[in-house]
Amino acid sequence: MKTEGSTVHLAIADHDMEWMMQALQGLNSHKQIKVTVFANTGRDLVERVASMDVDAVLMEYSMPDMTAVEVVKKLAEDSPGTLIFAVTNSLTEQLLRTAKSAGVKEVFFKPNFSPAEAGNRIVAEVDAFRRELSLAAQKHGRIEKGTGPIGVKIQKEYVTRTLKQVVVLTHNIKGGVGKSTIAVNLAAAIKMSPYYSGQRVCLVDFDCGGANVATYCHINDNATYNRNIYNWLSVSPDVSAREVEEMLIKGPQGIMIAAAPINLAHAEKISYDLADKILKILKNYFTVIVIDGAPNLSAPIDSAMLHATHILLVANAEGQSVRQLAKTVALFSPEPDFPEKPDMSHILNKMFLVVNYAQAPTEYDLKKADIASVVGRPLIAEIPYDKTVRKALHGPYEKVAVELDPGSDFSLAIKKLSNDICGAYPDGIRGEDDEKKPSKGLFSRLLGR
Ligand SMILES: Nc1ncnc2c1ncn2[C@@H]1O[C@H](COP(=O)(O)OP(=O)(O)OP(=O)(O)O)[C@@H](O)[C@H]1O
Ligand SMILES: [Mg+2]
Repeated sequence: MKTEGSTVHLAIADHDMEWMMQALQGLNSHKQIKVTVFANTGRDLVERVASMDVDAVLMEYSMPDMTAVEVVKKLAEDSPGTLIFAVTNSLTEQLLRTAKSAGVKEVFFKPNFSPAEAGNRIVAEVDAFRRELSLAAQKHGRIEKGTGPIGVKIQKEYVTRTLKQVVVLTHNIKGGVGKSTIAVNLAAAIKMSPYYSGQRVCLVDFDCGGANVATYCHINDNATYNRNIYNWLSVSPDVSAREVEEMLIKGPQGIMIAAAPINLAHAEKISYDLADKILKILKNYFTVIVIDGAPNLSAPIDSAMLHATHILLVANAEGQSVRQLAKTVALFSPEPDFPEKPDMSHILNKMFLVVNYAQAPTEYDLKKADIASVVGRPLIAEIPYDKTVRKALHGPYEKVAVELDPGSDFSLAIKKLSNDICGAYPDGIRGEDDEKKPSKGLFSRLLGR
């Protein structure tokens, strides 16, 4: 449980981008607030808050598609630990009564909105709520983690929220940017979290032919020869849990691996329908699914993009990888000159930029802010170049980097990413929450400020 005084993760939502920018800047300068999510619609807000670790929401009372009251109702199940605050231009007594009786904590008047005052109020409410939870936890004791089926409230989460299923895909058509490295270590880091150790985590290799996952997890070719996703061709959709288990290989920390075929003739048989069937089945058995993407837009990747809750656009600091991502983002973005283009915003909205320094720094490296502005999606993580990655891959240890050196800069960045995706490390990560640096939100990170 987060302690009183620790960082408050805040989501801001408004269709008015200018107001949101101003509020973001003001609230980010509050020493206990970190803006981690922003949204232009109620739907996006609900989706992001439910899948990320957010303590409070500050939203325009009347979004084009939803009011704050509707957001409270929608989040009551998916994220009951999140407190909702609203702002409005037309603050009437009637509105205030409706809002508060529905559970909105406070409604601020937009024309004289003060980020400092609102920030203090939000932090005070969140801290009071944390105090209440910690008293409740002391009174009722703790529930052992992992004692129930998927979705059952576990350990300290029982008072705040249930664990939500996440499906993460690493993507870039460019090779060598760190897709496999991040996928493998992210899956292991989530499983290493005390909150997720009792949950089932699956790592899926959709880089058919490349098959990096098995290599990176130190699994030998004999194991993957007999057990890989090609074997799922003959499986019926109502396959039993035991049969699913038999087609997977045990990996680091007990994560289960759906390996890619090494045989190229088999790799070519992994169609959209097969990939879709595999993911549908796995979603019945796993809380967390991490998919290692291929350096192409092949059939399994199309399917993974639809199933994903988070598409991590992985860029290194080189121009080619960044331009490639900008092209992918453009592919899913609306084009004003081409109104017949199908609406792909459901995919676009799940895309987050990860800057991964996969190579040792050079003078030609692009700056983080330039990468973010070219790609045009929110920066969710920055992962340093770290020799631990190569040591884990090439050394004699048979471990992945986050296991080999959990305190390395690389491991801390991966844990932070896993917290932003599914709240795996809500109590803070050494070296991050301990330092009281002024917090930086998505917008300032995006703009490199
Ligand atoms: N943060 C990092 N620090 C140091 N080395 C890294 C880091 N990230 C990745 N690497 C190294 O960079 C190389 C490429 O990474 P990786 O194989 O994960 O890329 P990829 O995007 O999956 O490539 P492909 O598309 O070819 O499968 C590997 O040798 C890996 O060990
Ligand atoms: Mg790879």
